[in-house]
Amino acid sequence: MKVMVVGGGGREHAIIKKLRENSEIDTIYALPGNGGIARDAVCVGIAATDLDAIVDFAVKNHIDYAVVAPDDPLVLGCVDRLEEQGIPCFGPNKNAAVIEGSKVFSKNLMKKYSIPTARFEVFSNASDALEYLKTAPIPTVIKADGLALGKGVIIAFSREEANAAVLSIMRDKKFGRSGDKIVIEEYLTGPEVSVLSFTDGHTVVPMISSQDHKRAKDNDEGLNTGGMGTVAPNPYYTKEVADECMEKIFLPTIRAMREEGRPFKGCLYFGLMITEDGPKVIEYNCRFGDPEAQVVLPLLESDLFTVMRSVTEERLSQVDVRFKDASAACVILASEGYPLSYEKGFEITIPEEILENTYVAGASLDGDVLRTSGGRVLGVTAVRDTLEEAVSAAYRMCEDIHFENKYCRSDIGRRALEAK
Ligand code: AMP
Ligand code: GLY
Repeated sequence: MKVMVVGGGGREHAIIKKLRENSEIDTIYALPGNGGIARDAVCVGIAATDLDAIVDFAVKNHIDYAVVAPDDPLVLGCVDRLEEQGIPCFGPNKNAAVIEGSKVFSKNLMKKYSIPTARFEVFSNASDALEYLKTAPIPTVIKADGLALGKGVIIAFSREEANAAVLSIMRDKKFGRSGDKIVIEEYLTGPEVSVLSFTDGHTVVPMISSQDHKRAKDNDEGLNTGGMGTVAPNPYYTKEVADECMEKIFLPTIRAMREEGRPFKGCLYFGLMITEDGPKVIEYNCRFGDPEAQVVLPLLESDLFTVMRSVTEERLSQVDVRFKDASAACVILASEGYPLSYEKGFEITIPEEILENTYVAGASLDGDVLRTSGGRVLGVTAVRDTLEEAVSAAYRMCEDIHFENKYCRSDIGRRALEAK
């Protein structure tokens, strides 16, 4: 079989490595992939948002199955376009991907179906938002409605910051049309947990829980990034919390999407905060998290391709989805200076014996030489019996990987270990 994976980061590398375990698959194409993914898939120079070129490639190459991994092509309707050509896909269609594509949609959905989340107001012009902020409780959280490369959420610790956020999103159009509407919501506190789930629109199967580390520097300081490391499972996600999430969040969300005529099929990511009043939804994503996939998928014991096809064919309830009774840690090696400015083009050396543990995000091939080409360069994942062992093993491997300007946080997993 020929399988195509749309996307080109560490998450896609993790998906591709896992798919390779299935012997029915002969060839995996990555669109566009990257220099590191090229070891595991045939990379095709088509951007993940170029839907015409993606569909054209899939038809001409008789692709049997497609996995659409990133948010933008999903929100643009990549799955709809491929399905029109009779190509089965893993990923939600455009109608369902709106759960991530519009925060106004997702907040209204949660309100309508009584799914626990932060209290909120929606605004479609700056003056109403500024008027509301005169008396809103501070800190407050301002969110652009649409996709904003993970930068559309601003936590304001003063009224001035809140006003400035509104003006930059709504007046200066910092995120373009994504900021035509905004959500202003209650600031919540508590440990955060990411729960990715498989769902075919009827059944929902949560994967092992995980924890992201979004800030660039140790102790959760510095700027927000695409994620500097992850661990799984997340110790704050106890059996009790998991049961409550299933009853009050996961099942109601799947049911709500069906009732709205937008059945969700694919990976639904629940970004949760465990508050004193119980778990609440911070955000939904319509896809695997990055770098959550780099710890969750290595712990998946079942065959990923089998599970994905059961989602597409709406028979997930008949499939066994099992995770290893172990822990995983992923440390991201980035270019010094990320997420602002950084140099790239440096040679990367990775010892052969740890290639299997690396998930490449930002590197390109220059002949046979792998060179840095992005802020987040690669993730290194270790799976061990305990989280402590996984974290130290991941850091040991990081020491054996070399490139100029290499930077990583030194405290991935520390909070999780302290929570135990
Ligand atoms: P996002 O870009 O949607 O992933 O959000 C970025 C981060 O903002 C989340 O991981 C949370 O840490 C934080 N955040 C979002 N909403 C809230 C909220 N209502 N209260 C506190 N923190 C929040
Ligand atoms: N790691 C957070 C995300 O994928 O959105």
